[in-house]
Amino acid sequence: MEHTSWSDDDGGRAFLRALPVLAGEAPEFDIDQAPSDPATLFAQWLRQAVAAEVPEPHAMTLSTIDALGFPRARVLIVKSVDADGWHFAAVSASQKGADLSANPVAALTFHWPAVVRQVRVVGDIVDDGPAAAAADFRARPLESRAQALTLRQSTPMADPGEMDTEIDKARRKLADDPDLTPVEWLSYCVRPAEVEFWQGYPDRRHLRLSYRRADDGWDRIRLWP
Ligand SMILES: Cc1cc2nc3c(=O)[nH]c(=O)nc-3n(C[C@H](O)[C@H](O)[C@H](O)COP(=O)(O)O)c2cc1C
Repeated sequence: MEHTSWSDDDGGRAFLRALPVLAGEAPEFDIDQAPSDPATLFAQWLRQAVAAEVPEPHAMTLSTIDALGFPRARVLIVKSVDADGWHFAAVSASQKGADLSANPVAALTFHWPAVVRQVRVVGDIVDDGPAAAAADFRARPLESRAQALTLRQSTPMADPGEMDTEIDKARRKLADDPDLTPVEWLSYCVRPAEVEFWQGYPDRRHLRLSYRRADDGWDRIRLWP
């Protein structure tokens, strides 16, 4: 059998079990006083994550379903959160773009260990339209616009040397037209059907509050941990 780097022959079980979990400090969470909509509570929790110095609290796992029905997940940055939903931007030609076109639904997962919190969002995908996509694209740093403009994300890279050539080409296009936004750059919105806020505690009496979209707003449902 091939040797791994674990010191015991247990697949790292003992090593993993010794790692701390739920080791952050839970801020106060009064479920009965939770706001009537999930976007407001999300903004409060994000600010508390920032205050607790959670690194990159705006990074989330975006889960999609590909054309064959397989789940795919990757980390992405959330761009804004408002009454419509959670917004992010991506190249439609990427794997995630293809998934979202085949199955316009997504799940988002945020994990903020320092405050022992997780937020999960599930919903339909809505295209924010070209104006929102262009505004997002123009606000990106030059290097990130140039990389996106290659439109090669998620495709096989046969020759790594091509990267310089393609990025130089993209930079020249942007120098000629600084407002250039590729039509493949989309701003997506996850319009939530359900948003769950999870507050962990070391005694495992975790608090879970699920917002479910109702005809005239949101139902708030407490869940067993
Ligand atoms: C912290 C972090 C932030 C990331 N932010 C982005 C992002 O904003 N846009 C992006 O396209 N990929 C981002 N990535 C890379 C994605 O996880 C992913 O590798 C890439 O989008 C290709 O995914 P796809 O092949 O499923 O389309 C980020 C990765 C990490 C770890």
